[in-house]
Amino acid sequence: MDHHSRHPAIADLKARARRRIPHFVWEYLDSATGDERTLARNRSRLDQVRFLPSILHGEFEPDLRTTLLGRDYTVPFGIAPVGMSGLIWPGAEQMLARTAARHGMPYTLSTVASQLPEDVGGHAGDNGWFQIYPPRDRDIRLDILRRAREAGFHTLVLTVDVPVASRRERQVRGGLTQPPRLTPRLAMQAAQCPAWLNGIRKTGMPRLRLMESYADTKGSMPSNQHIGYLLRTSPDWSYLRALRDEWDGPLIVKGVMNPDDCERLAKDGADAIWISNHAGRQFDAAPATIEQLPAIRAATELPVIMDSGVETGLDVLRALALGADFVMLGRAWHYGLGALGEAGAAHVMDILAKDMAANMGQIGARDLSDLSGKIVEK
Ligand SMILES: Cc1cc2nc3c(=O)[nH]c(=O)nc-3n(C[C@H](O)[C@H](O)[C@H](O)COP(=O)(O)O)c2cc1C
Repeated sequence: MDHHSRHPAIADLKARARRRIPHFVWEYLDSATGDERTLARNRSRLDQVRFLPSILHGEFEPDLRTTLLGRDYTVPFGIAPVGMSGLIWPGAEQMLARTAARHGMPYTLSTVASQLPEDVGGHAGDNGWFQIYPPRDRDIRLDILRRAREAGFHTLVLTVDVPVASRRERQVRGGLTQPPRLTPRLAMQAAQCPAWLNGIRKTGMPRLRLMESYADTKGSMPSNQHIGYLLRTSPDWSYLRALRDEWDGPLIVKGVMNPDDCERLAKDGADAIWISNHAGRQFDAAPATIEQLPAIRAATELPVIMDSGVETGLDVLRALALGADFVMLGRAWHYGLGALGEAGAAHVMDILAKDMAANMGQIGARDLSDLSGKIVEK
């Protein structure tokens, strides 16, 4: 049966994925920090953005194509970095990289993915971005950059909204450990999810393989503490400048929420600004990203990317209309994988594109440059 008749919305994929992913993993994927107010705010503020419907504009086929940082994409959205993606759905990194390559979207591999850049890059084709959490040690940083580049990742994303680890209370209650271990309680949850468990039997229990490849070389701490030590530095402006010198491709800074930071980011070498509140996973008093978007758009000439809470093609249009050049999604792709395996990620892409086209028909927007005048309220 056609996926659209059974799962017309990402919400349908989410409901199915929830049944097929063990509870402790689900809590990792789907929780935010604190009382999850930022998560809720992302949704409620997106809903406030409305467009005026248009009449008598005749027939047309909406054009969803766009260009970002000198590259053409078939749609103005892509795949945000998600750590331990392969725990959420076994093999996720390769599956998402292939989906991105097939459909002309960017795929961002996280530093804390469960797969190595060498093992994912070939699947992403020319669509691979690499997200870096800043390693403390310069040699390690240089080596990671080299490995990412050699594996074919051409665009670097520096995430700056994790200056400290956040407290994800729901995730803690769920019982996930680092590295993940199936305690008897968690093994019982896993046993109820045979497709997930079969996948894990094939891939092995996911680990932070990139960082583990450095853990052995330095000192004698237990490897999980050591990875935290290697990674958990809070970068400053000089770190950004160093990274700029060390990376010769496009550099995007992810996790920007304050328009006042934009000028300095441009001066210190950022090529694009990625507005994100990490889907509410870091700070429960943060504004919604869509709230910050107009001011950040006004503050910079750089391309602006937005994520956090995008759930429909209409949400993508909302962000573009308020000045974003590109939109990213994190959790939605994993709902697709959890529901339908690799085909589910392609289905997420299709749902978003069809929903964009249907709503552009209502608004009378022929292409993406035709959206900003159509906003009625925000
Ligand atoms: C389970 C999970 C893990 C994440 N891991 C990372 C990461 O390793 N690096 C990063 O920059 N952002 C990470 N993020 C944030 C996403 O890149 C993205 O900003 C966010 O998910 C977008 O919101 P959405 O899930 O509502 O689309 C993670 C998000 C989730 C849900």
